[in-house]
Amino acid sequence: MTHKNSSEEHFLTMVYKVVTARAPVNIAVIKYWGKTNEELKIPSNDSLSGTLSIEELSATTSAAISEKFQEDKLWLNGVEQELSDTSPARRLLEEIRSLSYSQDLLSSHKVHIVSINNFPTAAGLASSAAGYACLAFVLGNLYGITDPAQLSILARKGSGSACRSIFGGFVQWHRGMDSDSSVAEQIVDELHWPQMRVVICVARDTKKDVSSSLGMSKSMATSTLLSHRSYKVVPERIEAIKQAIVARDFEQFAEITMQDSNQFHAICLDTWPPIFYLNSTSQAIINICHKLNEYHRRNVVAYTFDAGPNACIYLLEEYVDIFLSIIREFFPICNNTISRKLEVRGRAFQESDVKTVSQYLESVGVQSMTNSLKYIINTSIGRGPSLTDVHIDSGNLKPGKD
Ligand code: PMV
Repeated sequence: MTHKNSSEEHFLTMVYKVVTARAPVNIAVIKYWGKTNEELKIPSNDSLSGTLSIEELSATTSAAISEKFQEDKLWLNGVEQELSDTSPARRLLEEIRSLSYSQDLLSSHKVHIVSINNFPTAAGLASSAAGYACLAFVLGNLYGITDPAQLSILARKGSGSACRSIFGGFVQWHRGMDSDSSVAEQIVDELHWPQMRVVICVARDTKKDVSSSLGMSKSMATSTLLSHRSYKVVPERIEAIKQAIVARDFEQFAEITMQDSNQFHAICLDTWPPIFYLNSTSQAIINICHKLNEYHRRNVVAYTFDAGPNACIYLLEEYVDIFLSIIREFFPICNNTISRKLEVRGRAFQESDVKTVSQYLESVGVQSMTNSLKYIINTSIGRGPSLTDVHIDSGNLKPGKD
């Protein structure tokens, strides 16, 4: 495939070039769980996610190409990563190189890649989705590949759900029949539903016990419910939630989102031996959400959980203040004699008045839990990856350093 553009002349004579991008996290409302092809990361079902704002959660990657570099190298959050022949990052790099328009020059020049996340890595906050989407986007731009569908396919090969982070708004990943058709597509952009907000309750920000790729391969091998989910349930849910999103119907959207999260964790329990991603904190949050919805006699919040205990809450902006106030009241931090409320990172919010919060808490009717949550992130739906002129300040990107 050839990819010629007007800057080709300049590109061919270049000895040094650096490209930097930021890419978002995405949180699925219809979950991807199971692969029909492990190597190519072709999923057993379609999935659908919201892309979160890069202001609060993002990966930033700078990639430099220079004739002075001796080897391809990659650093993640300051730590050099192995770029073995089988590593997803190496494969991604080699594939992008092979697609590049000036193969001779580019294959003789090495790259240095530096990537940082502005949130904990591998904590069930979809860091690999942002990371591989960013890597595909940056390397694509470095080597002249900018077609979003092509970048989505490349990102998928790094980490499946990364293919969705190439687009903003709400995004569907079509499972496809083969590698070229397993690609994400934007359903609506980030401006379509401006009232939609996302609150993440971080219960743990350290590495997960069972990685999603190990977990899903175990579920594929042992869960008898998974094929029913993939072939019967998900196709119906995808159509229904797309309609709800297009119509901005939160009631429907929330119902499907919560049911799909619960079904995904039921599949984990149906895996042998079972996998437990949720803990008692996650269960308390599920309970609080249902009580809140009952109190309002309609859905005002929707929880969803990935491969970890952190709760991701989709809700409309008018319920953000009360939801945050309840969670902060319910999950205090206590150290010896000092008790404080949870830190809320990201967007500003207004603490609701005590009377309203206690009314809600009474209706929830459950004991509060101390030291169970670490902090909260208050964010929204956002756009896809974009280039920036602000490169990561790292000596590893400078020619002469190898
Ligand atoms: O792309 P992976 O391997 O990190 O898997 C993601 C799996 C879930 O987060 C649980 C679901 C999803 O669709 O994002």
